[in-house]
Amino acid sequence: MRMNLRKLTLICGVLVLLWLVVSYSSLLQISKNIGNKNNVQELENKLEKLQYKMAEELTDSNKLLEKVKQQLKNSEEKSQQVFNDIDMEQNIGSPILPVLVIACDRVTVKRCLDNLVKFRPSKETFPIIISQDCGHNATYQVIKSFTDVDPTITVVRQPDLTEIPLPRVKVKFRGYYKIARHFRFALNHVLVALGHEAVIIVEDDLDISPDFFEYFLGAYPLLHKDPSIWCISAWNDNGKKDLIDLSRPELLHRTDFFPGLGWMLRRKTWLQLEPKWPQAFFDDWLRNPENTQGRACIRPEISRTYSFGKVGVSKGLFFDMHLRYMHLNEDFVEFTKLDLSYLMKHNYDANLSSLVYALPETSAERAAAGAGGEPATRVPYSNAKTYQKAAKKLGLMDDFRSGIPRTAYNGIVSCHIKGRRVYLAPNYEWTKYDPTWG
Ligand code: UD1
Ligand code: MN
Repeated sequence: MRMNLRKLTLICGVLVLLWLVVSYSSLLQISKNIGNKNNVQELENKLEKLQYKMAEELTDSNKLLEKVKQQLKNSEEKSQQVFNDIDMEQNIGSPILPVLVIACDRVTVKRCLDNLVKFRPSKETFPIIISQDCGHNATYQVIKSFTDVDPTITVVRQPDLTEIPLPRVKVKFRGYYKIARHFRFALNHVLVALGHEAVIIVEDDLDISPDFFEYFLGAYPLLHKDPSIWCISAWNDNGKKDLIDLSRPELLHRTDFFPGLGWMLRRKTWLQLEPKWPQAFFDDWLRNPENTQGRACIRPEISRTYSFGKVGVSKGLFFDMHLRYMHLNEDFVEFTKLDLSYLMKHNYDANLSSLVYALPETSAERAAAGAGGEPATRVPYSNAKTYQKAAKKLGLMDDFRSGIPRTAYNGIVSCHIKGRRVYLAPNYEWTKYDPTWG
């Protein structure tokens, strides 16, 4: 320490001496110059130049400072963007997806709730919210037996139980008016009042598959990543055993036909739909591309729900003809670990049409009989009539909504018959659905 101090004093002394010598010699120089008038002029010029140079340098450094400031601002904005992206990823990666159970007057809601509780992998990720219409007390007591023992299961009651005034011809559809009114209330409750980002809707007469929750969790990011998808559904409208590939439980499809029966949508979409929500037949309303801006849903090859509601608003006929034969998936597919990017519009559309139109053509009869050795075939149709004829032969549902056949995507209906993939596809350049069909 002492040594350093001495060194420092020595250095300082030398520096002061040096400064004295330099100043003295420059003073000498100046006094010499003063002696000469011409030299004064020269000195002034030099000074002026120096001044000019300094001013120039100052503007340069100001410019540099501005540049640095801008860079800083840019990188700040960039890192903000990165944070936003991460934030979004995190919300997608670990979302809260409430399950909304639509109940009315069936005490069998117990069967539905038992399964939801049984297969629910996380109470935090999937809170259960039961919305009860109809004011049926026995059903309310069943619901209460669940909410009383688990705070992540809650109930809300649709408050408007007034009769909906209807003209005589529409009285027989009263149930559908009540259902639409109830859905509007329940979706507003979950997505607006409670402010959830998305919701999974389950009707009180649905069974679910063991991987029901995993399916929705895995498919949920698609609702963020692909703006052409507005809903994820657990249902395949042609989900009978003879029409699906039981060896492909992981397979998913796009569809233009809203399947319903266990489905998910985002608040963002609900806020677009809500102002025009219909008085009745909301499911058919959602099948009109005008209401969903022509966007698609995702549906599984093998259904993740099964409807056991023989006694209901549609009075059992549909149940006996179709619903009872629907196959509920039994395997557990780890959807959250799968790459689902094949379902994004930019991948899916071109792949589907190039695949389908490269396939050999066959008749509905031959396809239904499993004739021919090809691993996949295409059955052509040219209008509503030929579509329905072929669909009937193949055992597919042959009805239309807003001109869309059930499960169709870009006019193509995909199914699996006698061990091979069959596509029912237009034999003309398809551009859009024709609402006069059906
Ligand atoms: C059919 C559809 C159903 C759709 C409904 C709307 C099938 C198998 N079912 O109903 O997905 O939502 O049309 O058009 O395609 N409910 C009320 N209030 C009522 C009556 C019923 O909230 O006054 C509830 C029920 O609890 C149930 C849902 O509405 O959750 C559907 O009722 P349901 O009796 O099952 O009618 P479906 O004929 O199946
Ligand atoms: Mn039902």
